[in-house]
Order: sequence, then structure tokens, then C-alpha cells
Amino acid sequence: MAVISVELAGRPYEVRVGAGLLADLPAQCGKLLRKKRVPIVTDANVARHWRETIDSVLQGAGFEPRWLILEPGEATKSWDGLSRAVEWLLGEEVERGDHILALGGGVIGDLTGFAAAILKRGCGFIQLPTSLLAQVDSSVGGKTAINSSAGKNLIGAFHQPSLVLADLDTLETLPPRELAAGYAEVIKYGVLGDPDFFAWCEANGPAMLAGDRPAREEAVARSVAAKARIVAEDERETTGTRALLNLGHTFGHALEAETGFSDRLLHGEAVALGMVLAARFSALRGLMPQGEADRVAALAAAGGLPSQLSALGLACDGIRLASHMLHDKKMDAGTLPFVLLHSIGQAFLARDVKLEDVASFLDGELGA
Ligand code: NAD
Ligand code: GLY
Repeated sequence: MAVISVELAGRPYEVRVGAGLLADLPAQCGKLLRKKRVPIVTDANVARHWRETIDSVLQGAGFEPRWLILEPGEATKSWDGLSRAVEWLLGEEVERGDHILALGGGVIGDLTGFAAAILKRGCGFIQLPTSLLAQVDSSVGGKTAINSSAGKNLIGAFHQPSLVLADLDTLETLPPRELAAGYAEVIKYGVLGDPDFFAWCEANGPAMLAGDRPAREEAVARSVAAKARIVAEDERETTGTRALLNLGHTFGHALEAETGFSDRLLHGEAVALGMVLAARFSALRGLMPQGEADRVAALAAAGGLPSQLSALGLACDGIRLASHMLHDKKMDAGTLPFVLLHSIGQAFLARDVKLEDVASFLDGELGA
């Protein structure tokens, strides 16, 4: 097992990465479970695979698991989903010093974290991430949110978990397309700040995706360590360091908006293509060599991720895609910061990018 500490002043917490963590839940949580009743929020897909394991281990240790099982999918990160979770937790008489268990992907983690942030002005929660994306990104760092009709993740809070248990066994039941989508966020850490990790992904990514256990542990642990460093440095995204985690997200967000935030393009797939576009745009502006951008595209493609905008078959132009960016929540006083690259491993925040330049770049990519 790998243990990574998220070093927040006065509020450090551990992220444990390994196999068998859910089957050892009572010991892993220790004193954080202080009452017999243990509230667990999850979705129906995850419950189908993992409820039995958790029921058996908690009941065996004298606990009484209590389940809220929500609909799978992004639509659950809504006012309706939040109100269901909060009302249920109130009914379960959860108190401030208690911990709610969030068992699932980023949807359940974000929703439950936000419910924990507002319940009785803030109670504890433990992240039990079951998707690769949640293990390497969303369960760590305390961003919690629901969506609004005006956009994704617009209503939320920073609320850190007390513990994160990333059980590699859960990846065995994750659909392959979701696994690949999570791999986009793994690649991201290499592209934004760690050329050695990027090269590790080039060498080991396919084996990791195919199920190689040591490779999975290394991919998750190195990703979490990278995120933990960034979050410890800039918890609330005020200095610009944490904003680097948005690499690929501005282009990606526009693609998700154009495809209606649907299964046509999963979030991780949009991030992968967004990263390729950020790399190609950086190369076009002479910021980094074209060969480096080609390596980013090749790594995405080798992971079964989209790497070419024209292959999406979108019936729109660059101006339309760029206009989606105007609704990005990272807009700041009329400008949109873009994460661009000097090289693989050297991302930076550019505040001087003109949307018309992005639109004409995208016109070229749509027709390429
Ligand atoms: P998700 O939670 O919808 O999970 C993807 C699918 O996989 C769902 O159908 C789910 O039921 C299923 N699933 C999850 N684990 C499974 C398992 N072990 N076995 C079988 N099926 C399983 O989506 P996601 O990709 O995990 O997360 C995406 C969400 O995360 C988005 O809402 C995004 O905004 C958010 N996010 C948040 C942060 C953050 O910092 N808070 C970062 C990145 C993404
Ligand atoms: N996923 C971006 C962040 O946590 O800041």
C-alpha cells in the first residue's frame, strides 16, 4: 500500500492506495467511525458490485451500514440529488463529528462532499473513490460541487475529506471506457509537471490499463502525490499553481458543452483531447516544439483516448467552440486564463490568449 499525505496546515489527511482497502474498512477508518450506524452514499452501479463486501465487513465488526443509493450519472450532481442526500443524512441523525462515506466515482464524491460541507455547517466525510478518475483526481483536494442549469460545478465549496481510501480492487469492475477516461487525468500530471512520469506512462500505460497491479498502484500513487503537492501549495486556487490542474479543461469544457455533456464524450475523454489541443496550440504559438505536442497526442491515442478533433465529427466552427469558453467558470474579469506548455512537464498559465486566435486555431483542427 502507498500512503500519501495531503499536507494542509492543521488539517492534514492521508490518501491510501492499495488493494483490499474496502474489505478492511473498519480498521482503515479506525476512530473516524465513532457510532454504530455508518451512513454511506453511493450510486446503483457501484452498489451492485461493492455493497455486499462493505455490508459484510462492517456488520462483522459490529457496525450497521445505512445506504443511500442514487442514480448513476452526472444528472445526480443536481439540486435534487443534493436535497435527497442532505434530507436523508438529517434523517439518519448525522452529527457534525460524524463521518459520511462517499463510495463511488467523481459524481458521488463531489455530491456527498458538498452535502457534508453544508450539513449542520460542516461535518466529516471519507472518500472511497471507485473510478480511476476519482482515485487520481476528484477525491483529493476538497473541491465539492453540484451542477446548475448555467453550467457544471458552479455551486459548491472547498471541503476536505478526513481520509481517502483508493482501493485498486474497485477498478476491476469499472467499465474499460471509464478506466481510459480516468487515465487522461493520470497523463495530465505528467504533461503539466513531470516529464519522467510522462515517459513512465508511455512505457507502462497500456499494461496499467490492461490490469497490471503494480503499474496501477504506481499510476494512482504518483498521480495522487502530484495532486497532493499542488493542493498543499494552493488549496483554494488563489496563486495559480492549482489552476495548472485545469490543463486541457478549457478546450475540453468547450467540447463537452458542444456534445451536450453526454456519453458521446466523457469528461476524461474531453480532457484528453483538450490536452492535445493545448499542446498543439502551444506548438503553433512557438512555445514548444511540435514533436512534444505529437508525443502528447500519441500517448492519448495509445490509451484509447480521442486525440484528433476532426475525428469527433462536430458540425460547428471554431467560433462556436470558443464561445462555449466564455461561460467557463475560470473567466476572470473578462479574460480566460489558458494552461499552455513550454514543454512536456512545464505547464504555465497564459492570461494573454485571445479567443479569436483560439477560434481560428480550432477551425484548422476541425478541418485537419
Ligand atoms: P462517475 O462518478 O459518473 O462514474 C463513472 C461511471 O462509472 C458511473 O456510471 C459510475 O456508476 C460507474 N462506476 C464508478 N465506479 C465504478 C466501479 N468501481 N465499478 C463499476 N462502475 C463504476 O464519473 P467519474 O468519471 O468518476 O467522475 C466525473 C465527475 O467528477 C464529474 O462530475 C466531474 O465534474 C467530477 N470531477 C471533480 C473533480 C474535483 O476536483 N472535485 C475533479 C475531476 C472531476
Ligand atoms: N480537478 C481540478 C482541481 O482539483 O483543482
